[in-house]
Amino acid sequence: MSLIWDKGKSTVNARIQAFAAGEDVMLDRVLFVHDIVASKGHVKGLARIKILSATEEVALLEGLDRLKTMFENGEFVLDERFEDGHSAIEAQLTEWLGESGKKVHTGRSRNDQVLVATRLYLKAALDELASLCEATAHALLDRAEAEMWTPMPGYTHLQRAVPSSVGMWLAGLAEGFIDDAELARMTFQWVDQNPLGTAAGYGVNIPLDRAFVTEELGFARMQVNPIYAQNSRGKFEIQVIDCLCQAMLDVRRFAWDLSLYTTAEFDFVHLPDDYTTGSSIMPNKRNPDIVELLRGTYGVLEGARVELAQVLSLPSGYHRDLQNTKPPLIRAVEKGLGAMALMSDLVQALEFNREAMHSAISPDMYATDLAVEMAARGVPFREAYREAAAQIPNLVDRAPQESLKVRTSPGGAANPMLDVLRARLKS
Ligand code: ARG
Repeated sequence: MSLIWDKGKSTVNARIQAFAAGEDVMLDRVLFVHDIVASKGHVKGLARIKILSATEEVALLEGLDRLKTMFENGEFVLDERFEDGHSAIEAQLTEWLGESGKKVHTGRSRNDQVLVATRLYLKAALDELASLCEATAHALLDRAEAEMWTPMPGYTHLQRAVPSSVGMWLAGLAEGFIDDAELARMTFQWVDQNPLGTAAGYGVNIPLDRAFVTEELGFARMQVNPIYAQNSRGKFEIQVIDCLCQAMLDVRRFAWDLSLYTTAEFDFVHLPDDYTTGSSIMPNKRNPDIVELLRGTYGVLEGARVELAQVLSLPSGYHRDLQNTKPPLIRAVEKGLGAMALMSDLVQALEFNREAMHSAISPDMYATDLAVEMAARGVPFREAYREAAAQIPNLVDRAPQESLKVRTSPGGAANPMLDVLRARLKS
């Protein structure tokens, strides 16, 4: 392993170095392209303050582009030859360019290098999360609109309560994902701060043009204090996992609904074959594994959040412990986005058993309608409630659509305000 900090005389104990490196070099594959992009910004910044000549700048930028292409098409493999992705960039540029390559690290540290690469990764993850939540909400709203008058029982405590509709169920889920998208976009703005140029956490004795590099890398603002830049490592990551967790709460709720509604006992929803698996021993089984793994994703993310938060019990400044924020972060982002990426197709694929849902609505479920009807005519509600309760044994069956058609309170089936929800999606 070549070590960037080797001063020419250190002997390397392979076992100790392997412990220190951990899975870092593998995880840096996820950050590598962001690291290269940030390195290009750093090179441009150094050229602006004449630390690099125009020729050196061009050579380094070309070298970084070449490395990016070679990494993407598999010609350059980031592996144990390097301590981490950051060292690999300098080693490769030095191999290709000699002296100019050795200049790339002027005024930066791996401490701000890992921060900026991770920050770009967080921004990309939040952007993707927001888009996936929006796509899921669109799919849910489309199906909600088509099924607004399709009756299904509304439950509280998992006990039959009042007639509801498939459309109300799906629009409710859509509104959750609309909020999740908004949270991801708000968090994007919060983390959109450039830590590059803070070096090891104390600044450097050259006038780095941090404002220029901030703009060059597409950040909205500079993260000013170098010590805070280090202290924000993990803090920002937690906030991103929280956004993913919010989306996974809604995924988990939906997955729970589906795992109930696809049982023989409910039989409200049918999942296409793609979403089910068989049993190795029970030939009759058709299991909703995908839905269950979607449900389980929240737990994985919450675990990652706790793991990451545990790392952060540290004093100010950089500590190597911070390397341990990477595994939970990357696990959470990959699992969370992986789950979200299945959602809109799953929504579109659901098949509804309209008869089963309709026949699960029993006459007693109109008792609330009856009480409210009487109250609307002027009977004090408590009296109307008792009167309706007394009538339950001989309530005549009604058509659920009649109940839905008069559910005019805003958000109800007769006034679902889907246009309002759609407008929130556009903004
Ligand atoms: N792999 C390290 C991390 O993730 C990179 C920074 C190393 N910095 C250092 N001073 N050893 O934190």
